Amino acid sequence: MWRLRRYRYYALFAAVVVFLLFRVAQNSKEWETVSASSPIGGVTNKAYNVRKVSHREDDDLQQHVLNTGVQIPHLKNTAPAAGDKEEPPSTASPGDGVPEVPALDGDGANQIGMLPFIDVSDKSLSQSAEVAADALDKGTQTSGAPPSRPAVHWRKMPEHFPVAEEDVIPLPTGKPVAISTVQHKFGQESSMDRERRLARLDQVKAEMQRGWKGYMTYARGHDELVPVTKEFRDPFCGWAATLVDSLDTLWIMDMKEEFDDAILDVEKIDFTTTNRSEIPVFETTIRYLGGLIAAYDVSGGKAGGYDILLEKAVELAEILMGVFDTPNRMPILYYNWKPEFVERPQRAGTSISIAELGSLAMEFTRLAQITKENRYYDAVARITDALYEWQGRGTSIPGIFPERVDASGCNSTKLDGTKEAPKEGIRIGKAHGDEKSSKNAVKSDQQPAELDTERRAMPAGEHGLGKRSNAELPDVRNISAMKHPLQEEHLHPLMPDGLTLPECVPKGLDRRRSPIEEYHMGGSQDSAYEYFPKQWLLLGGLEPKYEELHLMTVEAVKKWLLYRPMVPDERDILFSAKVTTHGKPDEDASPLYEATHLTCFLGGMFGLGGRIFSRPGDVEIGARLTDGCVWAYEQTPTGIMPEAARVVPCDDPHSSSCRWNQTRYEEWIDPSFATRDADFEAWLRQDAENKAREAEKAREEEQRLLRELVEEQVAKSGVASSNPGRQESLGDTNLNEPPLEGSKDGATTGQADGGSSEREAATRIYKKRAPTSNPGAQQYSERIPAYQPGSSRKLMGPGPGRPGEPRSEKLRPQSHREFVDDKIEKEMLPKGFVRVTAKGYILRPEAIESVWYMYRITGDAGWRDKGWDMFTAIVGQTATRAGSTAIDSVLELRPDKSNSMESFWTAETLKYFYLLYSDPDLISLDEWVLNTEAHPFRRPTAPFGA
Ligand SMILES: *[C@@H]1O[C@H](CO)[C@@H](O)[C@H](O)[C@H]1NC(C)=O
Ligand SMILES: *[C@@H]1O[C@H](CO)[C@@H](O)[C@H](O)[C@H]1NC(C)=O
Ligand SMILES: *[C@@H]1O[C@H](CO)[C@@H](O)[C@H](O)[C@H]1NC(C)=O
Ligand SMILES: *[C@@H]1O[C@H](CO)[C@@H](O)[C@H](O)[C@H]1NC(C)=O
Repeated sequence: MWRLRRYRYYALFAAVVVFLLFRVAQNSKEWETVSASSPIGGVTNKAYNVRKVSHREDDDLQQHVLNTGVQIPHLKNTAPAAGDKEEPPSTASPGDGVPEVPALDGDGANQIGMLPFIDVSDKSLSQSAEVAADALDKGTQTSGAPPSRPAVHWRKMPEHFPVAEEDVIPLPTGKPVAISTVQHKFGQESSMDRERRLARLDQVKAEMQRGWKGYMTYARGHDELVPVTKEFRDPFCGWAATLVDSLDTLWIMDMKEEFDDAILDVEKIDFTTTNRSEIPVFETTIRYLGGLIAAYDVSGGKAGGYDILLEKAVELAEILMGVFDTPNRMPILYYNWKPEFVERPQRAGTSISIAELGSLAMEFTRLAQITKENRYYDAVARITDALYEWQGRGTSIPGIFPERVDASGCNSTKLDGTKEAPKEGIRIGKAHGDEKSSKNAVKSDQQPAELDTERRAMPAGEHGLGKRSNAELPDVRNISAMKHPLQEEHLHPLMPDGLTLPECVPKGLDRRRSPIEEYHMGGSQDSAYEYFPKQWLLLGGLEPKYEELHLMTVEAVKKWLLYRPMVPDERDILFSAKVTTHGKPDEDASPLYEATHLTCFLGGMFGLGGRIFSRPGDVEIGARLTDGCVWAYEQTPTGIMPEAARVVPCDDPHSSSCRWNQTRYEEWIDPSFATRDADFEAWLRQDAENKAREAEKAREEEQRLLRELVEEQVAKSGVASSNPGRQESLGDTNLNEPPLEGSKDGATTGQADGGSSEREAATRIYKKRAPTSNPGAQQYSERIPAYQPGSSRKLMGPGPGRPGEPRSEKLRPQSHREFVDDKIEKEMLPKGFVRVTAKGYILRPEAIESVWYMYRITGDAGWRDKGWDMFTAIVGQTATRAGSTAIDSVLELRPDKSNSMESFWTAETLKYFYLLYSDPDLISLDEWVLNTEAHPFRRPTAPFGA
């Protein structure tokens, strides 16, 4: 509640500022929008490249709002020049939360890992602004006129770096090559099988119907349903993301009425404007563009009569084409679409994610095929060519790409040397980013593993355009004077009035500037690889580069990333690790044995690629990878795999047998097991010494007291030995009193041995929990206090107690045994997991996606049953009245609902479930190829191309 109020407060404040400044700014050419340069900028709600995760950023809202879309004058740059930035030495061990090193210009890399994990409510500008506007309206009601906020629209403008007509890369032409069938040849099914299958199909459809109804009732025309509180939110530009994303699902599930109803809203979408200042290019492409094209394809294409779908796809594509208007034609991935920004030349980012770069191919290619417009193909073919060229040059792990890529085309090595003075540009966002980055580094020292997850989950924060270009571009003050285009001088566009992009030595794609590189198949990598075989299919096998890229990928993945985990039932499954290297993987490759939900797509990729390139071994690997995710689903109380976890690799990852070894498992849970037990024993020894010393002191004290007492008695009575009975009883009393004041656990000292039931209980607990084999520990176990699990102070134990200090039970260090038991209990670790680094589930599709591929490819009915277990588990935990919701923990049976329903639930997850139980001819993989958002594009049969 408090937070909500605070937001409204800020929002109101922000709106007032926006409004006033906007007014002022309208008359001032020197003013520029800062939102582009803010790392949080403009968009509270970015779509991250983590394979369609969106995340909430609710850190530092004030800063946020102030940096958001607010127009302020240029400031003299106080941040250090990008080129001056020293790369901080990497202190953390590779592989575990290595601090993010700012890239040349940061480019959003800085704040990676600092944002809270996983989506949910975006305090998106649009919404805050709405709230604020409402408040403002109310405040000015008497005056009658609400403040007008004219909508800015995207405009088509001449390109700065156009591709000459004759240089446009055309779609490959010719007759598609013969491609092996992907799908298993399914025989006749028994009537019993059919009945059961149809019953399951109905249940899947019922989920779709409820979710769709909820969306149309409470969120129609908006991006997402907020499924618990029945509201809506707009994280994806407010163009009705769920609606567009789900069109083909409606068609496939035979919900034609709903489809026609939705088409009415498609007509209303205006892609030329949004309340976000930057369009997230990857998410927009896979969800909206892919959704429109697939809806057009599945509804029959030209013959289907839904021309509006293609019209809208083209409208959106034309806007998105602007992102390729850079010197090397590499895309800007967070597109500041407003005319005042488009007017200025830009470069692609220096630290972008490979998934965002590589996952535009299918959508633009399919659009080019449908419209016969080669420009769309040209745009993405250049990216493929650049990736291909890079593999030719070689990455540190040949075959795959590092997670973050410098796509600017500028060799900054040169720039570094010259140490250019900072341009008078906007670097506000930059300073902010630096601050975060240093916090980040500190944090990573303390909690390397924690950070790691966050970073994986939040790799984007990418503001390629705004921040970077503002750092590098000259201050453009005479936009009207700029001339286009500068074709032959691609790398040194000369502007009139000396307006140019700063000089730079050209280079191809490169790893971003950082001492470490990360290679994996998870979020922000995934779909780049997924698209190689799929793009090959979409092009009818006529572009061999995609086959080469795919084959290099799978070889690298097999060699470097795949591992067999050690699991209790010795199931033969695979996961894909994340490898960190400083550039010499043969010497320093450091694998992190993770199991993440996003990586679950990999089984399907190996299956599909293995099939079309006739590599049965890859299909086999695909099955084991898919089964790995099935296994992970099966291990948790809810039956759902967590977002991210760690497991133990087998001793020999390639061996055929992998015995469960409890000792080894526990050592992985507690990597400091050796020192932990040593510390523990040292503490015990010290403790025993202390106790002996105290006991000695106590005894002396008692004797002294006794002596005094006796002397007193003697003095009083004058008869020293006449009343021995009384003396005795006094002595007893004293002996039973705590020997030392302030020593709470005096009762547990060796001396006062009898009587304390509390202590007895403690000892019992301890014995039960710690059947240590160490004789020394055994000896003392009778006398040491129980460790109290859950004590927040447990890690503050000073180790061996210092003499004279009051001993506290809580300061006792844990033994390895206690640590492991405690961790398993507190973190609710399913057996086989050593950590669950992100326990939520956000309705993701990747696991069922691969199960579906494996079923369609192998025809093995076991996959249908495995899929059904997933379905019932997911529905059981996530269903709400209006739809389905993400949950915050798969480890608890009644998890909190995160109140979020991403559009991929209806676009992907339910579609894959449905297609698993549909007739296998529906969306046959021999006729269709699905993009990374599960949008089916028709595979070519006849010759095509211009
Ligand atoms: C932007 O916000 C305004 C209200 O603040 C709203 O009326 C409009 O629909 C929003 N536009 C988009 C595209 O979301
Ligand atoms: C901007 O450029 C135009 C055309 O080159 C020129 O006529 C005009 O004087 C310039 N304005 C400024 C403020 O430099
Ligand atoms: C960048 O320039 C340096 C120095 O000229 C050179 O060694 C390096 O190979 C270049 N990098 C790329 C990716 O071209
Ligand atoms: C189990 O693991 C421990 C610790 O790694 C090792 O010492 C032991 O030999 C293993 N046991 C077997 C049977 O492999």
